[in-house]
Order: sequence, then C-alpha cells, then structure tokens
Amino acid sequence: MTADTCPTLQTLPGPILVFDSGVGGLSIVEALRERMPDLPLTYACDNEAFPYGLKSDAWLLERVPEVVARLLEQVQPCLLVVACNTASTVVLPALRERFSLPVVGVVPAIKPAGLMTRSGHIGLLATKGTIERPYTQKLIETFAGDCQVTRIGSNCLVQLAEDALAGKQPSDARLREILQPFLDEPRLDTVILGCTHFPLLQKQLARVAEEAGAQHWQWVDSGAAIARRVLHLLAEEGYPNPCCPDTFARSCWLTAPLETDSQLPQALQCLGFDELKLLS
Ligand code: DGL
Repeated sequence: MTADTCPTLQTLPGPILVFDSGVGGLSIVEALRERMPDLPLTYACDNEAFPYGLKSDAWLLERVPEVVARLLEQVQPCLLVVACNTASTVVLPALRERFSLPVVGVVPAIKPAGLMTRSGHIGLLATKGTIERPYTQKLIETFAGDCQVTRIGSNCLVQLAEDALAGKQPSDARLREILQPFLDEPRLDTVILGCTHFPLLQKQLARVAEEAGAQHWQWVDSGAAIARRVLHLLAEEGYPNPCCPDTFARSCWLTAPLETDSQLPQALQCLGFDELKLLS
C-alpha cells in the first residue's frame, strides 16, 4: 500500500539506516519489521573494521562518526539506528552533536531485566568492550542497583553469530562453554543479550541452557524497545504511519568487499536486502 492508495500513510523523506559493525544489527531489523513490516530500511555494516568489541573508546570515537558521515551522504536517511551496543555505549553523544538527524542507540536491556528478574540475579552477555564501559556500569547502578549482575564478555560469540548467518552453525558444546559462568549460578533467572549479534543465536543458546538445567531463564534483548522508540520518534517527526516509496532500494552498504565464497549475500537477500553496495 502506498500513500496514494491510503491517505493515512505518510511517505518518509528517506529510509531508516540501521548500522552495525557486522550482521548483528539484523536482529534489530527483524524487531523493526515485526512491528512495521513496510518500514523502509537500509542496512550498513562496517565489515572492514569488524569486530568493534575489541576496539578502544578513542578508536570508536574516531571511526564511527567518520563512517556514518559517509553513509549519510550516500543514503540520505531520515533516522539512524546505531544497532551496536559496543558503539552506542561510547559514540552516541558525539554522533548527536555532529549530525542533525534523530539517532537511536542500542544499549543493554538492563532496565527491563531489572523489572523481570524474580530472584534478583541477572546475567549480562555482551562484548568485552560493552561489559567494561562506565556507561554499562551506570545503567546497572541506575536500573538494577539492587540486583546481582554476573557478566560474560565474549567476542568469540560475536564471530559465532557471524558464522551462523553465513551458514555455519556453532556447536552446542562451544555455546555451553560460553554460558558456563551463568550456569554456575543457580539463582540467576534472567539473561540480557547485550550485543545485537546474540539474538541471532538465541534459539540455540536457550536450548543449550535448557539442556544444561536452566529451563527457568528469561531472555531479554533490546529489539522490541528499539522498535517502539523508532516508531515514537517517527510519529514525533510527523510520520505516525510511515510508508515506503517504491524508489527506496533495499540496499546493504559494506565498507569492504566480501570474500568471494561468502554466504552473506544470500542471508541478506532472505532479509530483503538484495542490493550490496561498497561505501567509498
Ligand atoms: N553487534 C555489536 C554489539 O551490539 C558488536 C559486534 C562487534 O564486536 O563488532 O555490540
């Protein structure tokens, strides 16, 4: 349906740009599409610099605004989603200062986890960078100050999620090994997926945890909250029922060419991103 055929739909002036270091932001794309299947989305990943989880704050503060500036020039989006906890916990103020479009960041879902837990013991699974950031510590103090929070910083799980999307599923044994510090805590009842890559493995993670005796764990990520925030901001900008003009190609921007045998183009195509473009 278009704005011509339905007068309550408002045509957006540009797509929503979803940005991550790799494929993790596709979990945010899925959450957005769940609420708003027709939302015009463009995806971008800084695959040249992947992974972000091992980079310093200073490096991210220089790199992310520079890549975003080049993307904004090419894509002309109406809103930017930084679908990366590792980047968002450092660069959001710098992005908002430099660019005038609305910027939505993704940070670990500590607030909902603090409300959901019954035992008061939460597990935070994120990249090492996110786990160590003062921003994350502040979130914990503000929204889960009375909870015990066990942290797992795993950059390996990020790579496993990339591999899974490229068609190579991780072994159950490897996932169990990563989850072991949570499995050792019998009171823990809520697990935060504090990296956008991890919801891509959630089904397998949950099954592995259940088989290891953790049937009671609740899993929480930021996807649904981000989708609500994006729709709220679009409504505020005057687009309560946004629609997609046919002229917006569903493209995915990369910062480096893919390996010739990469399965990623097929995975992206399944998600509707049928045009791959290299950012110059
Ligand atoms: N997807 C990113 C996040 O949410 C991190 C991936 C990476 O380490 O590059 O933190």
